[in-house]
Amino acid sequence: MILEIQDLTIPTMDQECVIVNKISFGVKEGSIHAVVGPNGSGKSTLAYSIMGLSNYKPSEGKIYFDGIDITNMSITERAKLGITLAWQEPARIDGLSIPKYISLGVKDKKNLKERIIEALEIVNLDPERYMNRTIDESLSGGERKRIELAAAIAMRPRLIILDEPDSGLDFIVIEDFLNIFGKIKELNMTILLITHREDIGMVADYGTLIWRGDALLTDVFPKVMLKYCAKAGLRDFCSRKLFNGEGACFDEDYIDRIFREEEGL
Ligand SMILES: Nc1ncnc2c1ncn2[C@@H]1O[C@H](COP(=O)(O)OP(=O)(O)OP(=O)(O)O)[C@@H](O)[C@H]1O
Ligand SMILES: [Mg+2]
Repeated sequence: MILEIQDLTIPTMDQECVIVNKISFGVKEGSIHAVVGPNGSGKSTLAYSIMGLSNYKPSEGKIYFDGIDITNMSITERAKLGITLAWQEPARIDGLSIPKYISLGVKDKKNLKERIIEALEIVNLDPERYMNRTIDESLSGGERKRIELAAAIAMRPRLIILDEPDSGLDFIVIEDFLNIFGKIKELNMTILLITHREDIGMVADYGTLIWRGDALLTDVFPKVMLKYCAKAGLRDFCSRKLFNGEGACFDEDYIDRIFREEEGL
């Protein structure tokens, strides 16, 4: 396991409530591991805490990265070990040139230009068109998301945390994003993918379902998604291609059983 979360509890800043409640799961090196759950279930909070943002300090539990206890390490120390986060809402660092922005977190400045070009190519932005541009309002939301991702990729982290990389993007762009994940994986990065979209999650090898701050299940992704649907009462959704039809994962009887279990029948 490259990442081990053990009994992690994250309170609100005022310590009044618990956002994430004794969560435990592991992420295998080289895998795409999706964290799914409804709005407000604690996914981003968990991501920020793994990255080490000071407002999301755990009150209990441990985070291990490659066997090292990082629970009390700063963001900088974690970044040095190889952890990077791409935000749900891309940063608004207007005025920087795109290559400058992408190179901000790159430690090894050798072959910097090549590294930037490679990162742009991975996110499917033509370097010829983007190397001379600036981060400003002329970029579309999708372009900003891609540039944010390119900046994370250029750092060559060992673990890349992607918080809703699909937010605000349309379906065609999403298809494209699935290719991007494949390319990131080829560069031997492990991906922790936070999403509430089943079609995005289907690229994941494993998943963890977060429900009101609890980690309910960690398993292969389709099983996690099925549990999510059962919890949310989305039986119709389970008839879609995710769970049967071409590339079927489960038959109808199995799906019915999981739903009955959830309803306590
Ligand atoms: N600093 C904070 N103080 C108080 N409550 C917070 C704070 N940060 C997050 N929360 C609350 O914690 C809960 C979990 O928030 P979080 O952003 O982690 O959810 P999420 O699963 O990422 O949701 P979404 O799918 O909408 O992105 C929410 O109810 C949110 O309002
Ligand atoms: Mg979120």
